[in-house]
Amino acid sequence: MGFAQVGAESGWRTANTISIQEEAEAQGIELKFTDAQGKQENQISAIRSYIQQKVDVIAFSPVVETGWDAVLQEAKAAGIPVILTDRAVDSEDTSLYETFLGSDFVLEGERAGEWLVENAGEADTNGDGTINVIQLEGTTGAAPAIDRAEGFATAIAADPSIEVTASQTGDFTRDGGKQVMEAFLQADDTIDVVYAHNDDMGLGAIEAIEAAGLEPGKDIKIITVDAVKDGMQALADGKINFIVECNPLLGPQLMELAKAVVAGEEVEPRIVTEETTFTQEQAKEALPDRQY
Ligand code: AHR
Repeated sequence: MGFAQVGAESGWRTANTISIQEEAEAQGIELKFTDAQGKQENQISAIRSYIQQKVDVIAFSPVVETGWDAVLQEAKAAGIPVILTDRAVDSEDTSLYETFLGSDFVLEGERAGEWLVENAGEADTNGDGTINVIQLEGTTGAAPAIDRAEGFATAIAADPSIEVTASQTGDFTRDGGKQVMEAFLQADDTIDVVYAHNDDMGLGAIEAIEAAGLEPGKDIKIITVDAVKDGMQALADGKINFIVECNPLLGPQLMELAKAVVAGEEVEPRIVTEETTFTQEQAKEALPDRQY
């Protein structure tokens, strides 16, 4: 298997990489692994090199949604099956890949928004009658950034007092989240809620909020996505208010799918990962057994 990974931008990504590498070894699959360092052109080069090496199967998690048709057509012409994992592409020709294994990111965004609607009573921390939300977006053009924004917007439409007043990318990194949050805090002293598209950006925002002399989780409520250990610890500590889980442990299902497509078996075109959500109390209970 040739696997073209996005990079190492987050705790989620690290757990995902480990899951893929460990499971390939456990199942006796020879893995050629590349880290694209967040760049689409690096992923395209890696996929082209896997085609040249005539691997049996290619899997990748696309950095962004668009711009994959040409390289996927090259793989198809070479007779090499492709599996999308974690993130989708927006190609209209679905024959360019065998299946897509990963989360429902729109649902994740909806779950984040629904929690805010249900807890709107405590979310107006500055008491001005409006719930001002700032959104820390994932990588621009990436499926989870697009879909988590869409799902959240749909859910909060149920309560007109909730408004996303500013939204900017923090590129799914802790540093990115911190820097964007610092700028938002300087520009606006009416922020009630931070909705971060992943834990790492939420954790960066916590650093910025504390440096500004405010208490994360109280003065500003924080909602994130992923539920990696650091995020869960911050949730249990009361610094984050709610986390929507996104499961990175895709290795076992991916290797099973790879074996099936290489054997010429039919596989489901879409396999959705099972996920849950965590409140602060639930995080305290789940932390001791958390694998990632
Ligand atoms: O595609 C999954 C997302 O990518 C994770 O939520 C985020 O942490 C990662 O960088």
